[in-house]
Amino acid sequence: MKIRRDFLPFSRPSIGRAEIKAVVDCLRSGWITTGPKCKAFEDGFCRLTGASHSVSLSSATAGMHLTLLALGVGKGDEVITPSITFASTLNMITMTGARPVFADIDYDTLILDAAHAEALISKRTKVIIPVHFAGAPADMERILAMAKNCRLKVIEDAAHAVGTYYRGTHAGGFGHTAVFSFHPIKNITTGEGGMVVHNDEEFDRKIRLLRFHGIERDAWRRYGKEGNPEYDIQSPGFKYNLTDIQASVGLVQLARLEEMNHRRERLAAFYMEGLSGIPGLELPGVPDYPHTHSWHLFVVKVLSLERERFMQKLSEYNIGYGLHFPPGHRLTYVKKMRGARRPRLKETERCAGRILSLPLYPDMGDKDVHYVCDAVKEILGNG
Ligand SMILES: Cc1ncc(COP(=O)(O)O)c(C=O)c1O
Repeated sequence: MKIRRDFLPFSRPSIGRAEIKAVVDCLRSGWITTGPKCKAFEDGFCRLTGASHSVSLSSATAGMHLTLLALGVGKGDEVITPSITFASTLNMITMTGARPVFADIDYDTLILDAAHAEALISKRTKVIIPVHFAGAPADMERILAMAKNCRLKVIEDAAHAVGTYYRGTHAGGFGHTAVFSFHPIKNITTGEGGMVVHNDEEFDRKIRLLRFHGIERDAWRRYGKEGNPEYDIQSPGFKYNLTDIQASVGLVQLARLEEMNHRRERLAAFYMEGLSGIPGLELPGVPDYPHTHSWHLFVVKVLSLERERFMQKLSEYNIGYGLHFPPGHRLTYVKKMRGARRPRLKETERCAGRILSLPLYPDMGDKDVHYVCDAVKEILGNG
């Protein structure tokens, strides 16, 4: 096959005229930091998820950090999460003084194995963090039942899950806390950004204080009309707020969610068809319970070639790729953690060296997917 001249990226944000206009309008408005656009974006997330509260933040990492702190997670606590997740979660757990405990995943779907997670619950376990991996929801009924029985808090890692539904409920709509990401590769973007959704008035107060220096009123309420510029701080906080410039982009993206996710779904279907039956390649598994997949990622497993070699070959064909994720339990600092439990992660180990994410983003053309399929076939000797 003929190698394309231009590089096909692994991901690319879909930014159109409306997003650009929204930013320009915001810049001209005189208010560019946290304000009415962030509020409207938060309201949009309440409508999408059905949660009563949404808090916009500078990233999902910030959201995870504050959520763990607001739930009182700290030294001596354990937090159960899969090892195949982004390191930010492990970093934030560690930053609070707690320890991650890794549960295994299902080999096909790469989603948390709830039975294994349940077996790991100890007196120290405070929180469980399932990941809606690649846009497919974790088995929330199972996880919620376990959390109820063992009095655990659940934080849904919904970084991949804008537009993901489990049995008709959107991620974040289960009465616990969920954290979304708007990093540029995500299903909707604000450049960088995150959202915590939840249903708890007291938690809301805590997280909003932690988000902005520990100050009761954000800048909008201090400097706006009839605002009061005085403040007191009862306990210190961070500076993790989203800006109105970012939220302006987020509002347009949110309005385009259905259109963009529909396109992702179509591209994923092309991949499923174009890559089926290739010896040495496994396609993404999807959960057997009712759900809507947001197709954030298309993660294949490569069996018949060293992944390193496969990645080199993709580069030669001018194709980008991603790795979601290098297992957390193999990170140097995690391996060095003293006193950490180290459960056997059979399925995680089995897929760790095989997984690879192929290009997937709404503005990708049909012919781009077909090109990737042909290249993969050729690379794996089936061309
Ligand atoms: C599963 C998962 N969790 C959390 C994050 C962190 O998101 P952010 O980059 O917005 O902090 C990511 C980002 O890639 C992710 O993929």
